[in-house]
Amino acid sequence: MHKFRISYLLILPFLIFIASCNESAEKKSSKTDGDEIDQKVSELLSKMTLEEKAGQLIQYNGSWDVTGPVPEGDNEQRKYQNIKEGKAGSMLNVIGAEATKEIQKLTVENSRLGIPLLFAYDVIHGYKTMFPIPLAEASSWDMEIIEKGSAIAAKESAAAGLHWTFAPMLDISRDARWGRMMETNGEDPYLGSKIAEARIKGLQGSDLSDVSTILACAKHFAAYGFAEAGRDYNTVEMSDYTLHNVVLPPFKSSIDAGARTVMNAFNIYNQVPATGNVYLQRDILKGDWGFSGAVVSDWGSIGEQIVHGAAKDTIDAAKQAIEAGSDIDMESRCYESLVQMVNDGIIDEALIDDAASRVLRLKYELGLFDDPYKYSDEEREKAEIYSEENRAIAKESALESMVLLKNEGLLPLENVKSVGVIGTLANSKDIPLGSWRAQAVENSAVSLLEGLQNVMGKSTKIEYAEGYKLAVGRRSFVYELTFEEKDRSGFAEAIALAKRSEVIVMALGEDCWQSGEARSQVDIGLKGLQLELFKEIQKVNKNIVVVLMNGRPLAIPEVAELAPSILEAWHLGSEAGNAIAEVLAGNHNPSGKLPVSFPRHVGQVPIYYNHFNTGRPTTNEHDAGFVFWSHYSDELNSPQYAFGHGLSYSNFEYSDMKLSSDEMTKGGEITCSVNVKNTSDRDGEEVIQFYIRDLFGSIARPVQELKGFEKLMIKAGEEKKVEFKVDEELLFFYRKDKTWGVEPGKFHAMVGGSSDKVIKAEFELK
Ligand code: NOJ
Repeated sequence: MHKFRISYLLILPFLIFIASCNESAEKKSSKTDGDEIDQKVSELLSKMTLEEKAGQLIQYNGSWDVTGPVPEGDNEQRKYQNIKEGKAGSMLNVIGAEATKEIQKLTVENSRLGIPLLFAYDVIHGYKTMFPIPLAEASSWDMEIIEKGSAIAAKESAAAGLHWTFAPMLDISRDARWGRMMETNGEDPYLGSKIAEARIKGLQGSDLSDVSTILACAKHFAAYGFAEAGRDYNTVEMSDYTLHNVVLPPFKSSIDAGARTVMNAFNIYNQVPATGNVYLQRDILKGDWGFSGAVVSDWGSIGEQIVHGAAKDTIDAAKQAIEAGSDIDMESRCYESLVQMVNDGIIDEALIDDAASRVLRLKYELGLFDDPYKYSDEEREKAEIYSEENRAIAKESALESMVLLKNEGLLPLENVKSVGVIGTLANSKDIPLGSWRAQAVENSAVSLLEGLQNVMGKSTKIEYAEGYKLAVGRRSFVYELTFEEKDRSGFAEAIALAKRSEVIVMALGEDCWQSGEARSQVDIGLKGLQLELFKEIQKVNKNIVVVLMNGRPLAIPEVAELAPSILEAWHLGSEAGNAIAEVLAGNHNPSGKLPVSFPRHVGQVPIYYNHFNTGRPTTNEHDAGFVFWSHYSDELNSPQYAFGHGLSYSNFEYSDMKLSSDEMTKGGEITCSVNVKNTSDRDGEEVIQFYIRDLFGSIARPVQELKGFEKLMIKAGEEKKVEFKVDEELLFFYRKDKTWGVEPGKFHAMVGGSSDKVIKAEFELK
């Protein structure tokens, strides 16, 4: 007992601090987050019993058919009973207007206060209309289309009775072995921050009570993307500087954009599980950033603190989590003990009040107290989900998300008489839907083959041969990993097709279930017999356009060398095939840029453009000379394709880079301008990228950092002047003394169409 009193005293100051932060966050807030809601929340809270308040912090998985009999088994029974008694605050995986309405009724009509539930679901890149996987969408560098895509995902989800998506994922990752790379926005904190903002705006809109918007959830807080060796759920070991300078910026940006929920993470940070991490959740998120929304644990992560060896038992796990600011327990059931813990003096009721009021506030913001069923509308569900209009935007997004990695003149396929389409991936109507596909209907995507027939079929002979098989085990939750593939029975047909075709379009890559949660791999090359067949085809016809379909960067050195043209198409969603075909045919000029580096070899991972210089960098890696420098003896340091890389059917020339001054005074601002000319005869979009290098600081500084970009349509022959403003804030970093700020000294400004192709100038901050 004595011990518990002491721990309460220890947390008291931060409880007071939280209260004051909430107050100030509310002051600067929007209409939905205002005083009125605050007042309603505190009135309601004062009427609630401890059980009811603690109930708001419990999130159950909806694994039963509510229209059927009461589920069997103790836990299910208790879950059902708790929902009826208002001792649960939210549920995940209850989907559809009918099911959500049914369960909402259980709680609203039976519980004492009739407080509605929140229904949450992983809507990661679309609800039923599938958009490109997030890593693909990030390749568009197009904030408008990303926002639109999120808005459609929200609209479809909301029409199916959902209030909340567990998206966007904002983890930075530098490791293609990690299966969840597909869910990220890549390796860069600046691009990641812009995308975070776009996705939050898209999902939440400007008014949460509008039935076409839902709550967003910035996840996973924090550093989950740095799992050691790319193995999911693995240990994270990271400096505080990397945390602040690389990992946190997208989260900060999402909070600034109004994200109302945050999910914590499975990993440890500084050896403390993120779920029980006071520094991450109390100090940074709810303290420094004044976050007034709710933090949900990741699935079971409160209980997993015990497995980490960082909590003694479920009581200790619940105590650490609630004290650290984890408001909602997703399915670990540890928070079912909260009431007892308060009664036993283990935790203070004020913690429950704070967490419960955060959850209640969300329910008011969504308007659920006015009408708990307003999202569950069968009519809207029918009309708004998977509409033609939504699919048209998914196609637009897919068009912007492709990256032309290499083109030695084969593309676009204009005036081509015959195209041989090879590879089972080209004929799949399912794989393009990607991992984390919510309610997408199996086999509902437009395949590459169908797309080519739709777009080019009238004027070009299109034939198909399966060639190789993808022997990856299937389905989302359980699979058998059988990458061993011995079946060459399709080779002969494919080789014969290659011989008689003018051009080959060969689809290579990954099954969609090779990436996603728990899908880490040590090998990021092409599985099975894909490469073998590619080489066979290459022997008989050199005109190969490779279309990559994958959920992570791949190491494909042979393909990169031998294929004249390579189009990175990722897993592009419902309209994949049509979009790819439009690009191959030249009806759409590709403009995507890589948000992540492509290694030459898995041994280079983690590989990223914004690395440090080291004490022994190389100036010319192709001519090593002296041995004692930072390099590999058997491979180059540089990636196969750099961050920011992406070609177009147009050619862009950068010239006349100018700084308005080569000196910047404290509090001042300078401008960097550059001319970009489209020297081709084809209109095209270019992503003009602006980087800086801080040459010297109180801690080592990266060799390059993205600090701005602009995606511009430049007409054939046209030249455009582009300007980037540099002010002090743009140069801020988390410094040796653990504060954010800028330090005087020399900087390089760099501009180009890729991180590895820039022109530069120098300026000094006085
Ligand atoms: C675990 C994943 O890490 C998280 O991203 C997801 O939202 C939850 N499961 C719920 O499905």
